[in-house]
Amino acid sequence: MTELLIKNAVIMTMNEQDDIIEGDVRIREDRIAEIGEHLEPSAGSRVIDAGGKVMLPGFVQTHIHLCQTMFRGRADDLALIDWLRKRIWPMEAAHNEDSVYYSALLGIGELIRSGTTTILDMETVHHTDAAFQAILESGIRAFSGKVMMDHGTEVPPALQEKTDESLSESVRLLEKWHGKGNGKIRYAFCPRFVVSCTEELLVGVRDLAEQYGVKVHTHASENETEIRIVEAERGMRNVVYLDHIGLARPNLILAHSIWLNDEEKRIIKERGVKVTHCPGSNLKLASGVAQVPELLEIGVTVGIGADGAPCNNNLDMFQEMRLTAYIQKVKHGPTVMNARQVLRLATMGGAEVLGMEREIGSIEAGKLADIQLLDLEDFHVYPSYDADWYSRVVYAATRGDVDTVIIGGDIVMQNRIMRTIDKPR
Ligand code: GUN
Ligand code: FE
Repeated sequence: MTELLIKNAVIMTMNEQDDIIEGDVRIREDRIAEIGEHLEPSAGSRVIDAGGKVMLPGFVQTHIHLCQTMFRGRADDLALIDWLRKRIWPMEAAHNEDSVYYSALLGIGELIRSGTTTILDMETVHHTDAAFQAILESGIRAFSGKVMMDHGTEVPPALQEKTDESLSESVRLLEKWHGKGNGKIRYAFCPRFVVSCTEELLVGVRDLAEQYGVKVHTHASENETEIRIVEAERGMRNVVYLDHIGLARPNLILAHSIWLNDEEKRIIKERGVKVTHCPGSNLKLASGVAQVPELLEIGVTVGIGADGAPCNNNLDMFQEMRLTAYIQKVKHGPTVMNARQVLRLATMGGAEVLGMEREIGSIEAGKLADIQLLDLEDFHVYPSYDADWYSRVVYAATRGDVDTVIIGGDIVMQNRIMRTIDKPR
């Protein structure tokens, strides 16, 4: 049995009691076996001395487009619908198998370097096998699926799908990849957004997701033009429509969800729908200010995601955490979204969005060993042990501080060197 013992870290457990412990973590195979002080290594155990380092659960990002990583710097200064039609869709249409593979690998490299160990990803229409191959090789924990789009205008021919083909290709990918990588890979159906999907497709997704027991990952109510298109075509507000066709269920994950009225917030809460907040993207695409404190107040489960790289030019959860706090403080006042609450969204919140709260999101015995070590030496506070650790991590830490990343007990980055990504195909 392989054992890894990490000694002398400041462990921010993110457990229910909010314990911050100075001590050791024993990992056996892919799980955390024990947390304590002065743990002794077993024979053959590998030991990491994490003295002076801060241990956190790996970040969980619940909305990513790995296939868009290469579009960064080529899609600026437009709002959502024009941005998709003029920039993103033509670039997705030009993808080939190699570019999807390398786009995913590049994105995963950035994600792991900045402490993210689990993602919910949305690919493009074609070449999704290549993205799953990169996910498998990288060792990241990922929910992903091909994007589905069988409707809408100004979509390049290469991205136009027939309803039945979109569904059957999704099922083929699901049957091939769901559960691969020692269970680290899961399939999620990804209808792009209502604007791109026929009702027949969405109903098909609803039934297949139920049949296979998997998540549905989509965008909803990100932009005012988007919700006007949905209202004009379907005669209802976006989330009301999703509920009307029976898609509003606990396995549904909505990215953005900015433009919600009270009825839609109630539907999300009552149906157990999950929401992903994408603050950097919402600012750069001028989409709006999400109602995060309002959703949390009524008991909605919220995670955070960077969205695609061109949405905010970054896949870095440290930036997304800070923005989550800053935006709401300007709107509601300084006590809203404190550092601990924000760090919780970035870890346990994401785990809850994915239904993985028993497996990931905190450092507790029995959970999967998805862990990051931060080296905050550059950041001097005197006396450092009096500093609020949540504040230090949320407001001061950067991705350059991430020293070591462990996913399912495997060390994927140590001393800032990535082991699994930097190899040619
Ligand atoms: N809505 C539909 N497609 C997309 C996308 O690719 N990115 C974002 N941010 N919103 C979308
Ligand atoms: Fe998105």
